[in-house]
Amino acid sequence: MTATAGLQARAAAHLMTTYPPAGVAFVRGQGTALFDADGNTWLDFLCGLAVTSLGHAHPAVTRAVAAQAGTLVHTSNLFLTEPAVALAERLARLTGWDDATVFFAQCGATANEAAIKLARKHGKRQHPDKVRVVALEGSFHGRTLATLEATGQPAKHVPFAPLAGFVDHVPHDDPDALRAAVTADTCAVLLEVVQGEGGVRPVPEEVLLAARETCDAHGALLLVDEVQTGIGRTGPWFAFQDTPVVPDVVTVAKALANGLPLGACIARGPAAAVFAPGDHATTFGGNPVTCAAANAVLDTIEAEGLLASAAVRARRLRQGLEGLVAGSPLARGVRGRGLLLGLELAAPVAADVTAACAARYLVVNAVAPDVVRLAPPLTVSRQEVDLALAALEEALSEVAQPPTDPRPASNRRTA
Ligand SMILES: Cc1ncc(COP(=O)(O)O)c(C=O)c1O
Repeated sequence: MTATAGLQARAAAHLMTTYPPAGVAFVRGQGTALFDADGNTWLDFLCGLAVTSLGHAHPAVTRAVAAQAGTLVHTSNLFLTEPAVALAERLARLTGWDDATVFFAQCGATANEAAIKLARKHGKRQHPDKVRVVALEGSFHGRTLATLEATGQPAKHVPFAPLAGFVDHVPHDDPDALRAAVTADTCAVLLEVVQGEGGVRPVPEEVLLAARETCDAHGALLLVDEVQTGIGRTGPWFAFQDTPVVPDVVTVAKALANGLPLGACIARGPAAAVFAPGDHATTFGGNPVTCAAANAVLDTIEAEGLLASAAVRARRLRQGLEGLVAGSPLARGVRGRGLLLGLELAAPVAADVTAACAARYLVVNAVAPDVVRLAPPLTVSRQEVDLALAALEEALSEVAQPPTDPRPASNRRTA
């Protein structure tokens, strides 16, 4: 039995089946490389779902985590720690909001949960029924009950319905529908600038402008979920900084601590002063180890000029993908921004293309039936971009014209 097969058997016995069975187990990472339990080396163009933006085992993060773990791991939020305060100051600077205040959560869903609760309290100060939220179809905001409800993917609601019923969804590309949905009872509009899990779909600027305008007209807050797009993934520190719109609240998680569990809900203006002691809390959020990791991430991005160098890599990757579109009947288009890109396919075969990439030890994922997502680290090299494009090109031609493979399908590698 291979090392992977042994782990698979143990996992089948004792892990809940919330995820499809995994065909690969990783044991180590270094930069863009992942090493599996059977001794193979992979190229990681997914980053654990847009998380490890500095690559695996980045020495600055490793050093910061080790030093903090050897000094102080946890105190609870009854006490202050330097790493959390420094990170809050840092996030205020990166948003450009002098008056920003930050609530630290453990992940994207809990950062969004905080944002929704903040908006409901803000709304209820105006009148008691001002608790409704408008969100976009196709969005993804998390799996807690409130963030699941905000998630505009009805199939994900079905096993848990009925939900509380406080969210109205409108199409992601219809500014008039958004304006019409916002009423006196709306406390917030919640949206992503680029819908990540929704298939790497940029939300049109007119929708962002309509959201800002209608929130202002109705005393509602604009909450921008940058859990996936934040910390340089799409180019700037925050994706909204490439748009004419400034939100009241922005949430981040994923890449913030390069893989340690940390989320942040960052508010400005009147939203910054909504929560009072006792309104919201968490045991682990903002613990000194995760915040030390995040400070190291932000230091490294700044010191190494990674936003600028990632933009250069992003251009090369995008141009390469556009080349694949020109050369393959199966590739139909490229969408997304920066290093969050989706390759649109002409047929719902993204899972097959992903499997064909896995057979070439390239990690990408099928984010929609007809879209393959690429989210390499900001540190990705030019050579790694070219290797990934070559593997993807082969994968596309294999799926377009499946080879006659003498091995049974069960013997072929899948991620
Ligand atoms: C935009 C967005 N919001 C929220 C979440 C939920 O984050 P988490 O899985 O850390 O709870 C995700 C996760 O993919 C996301 O992409």
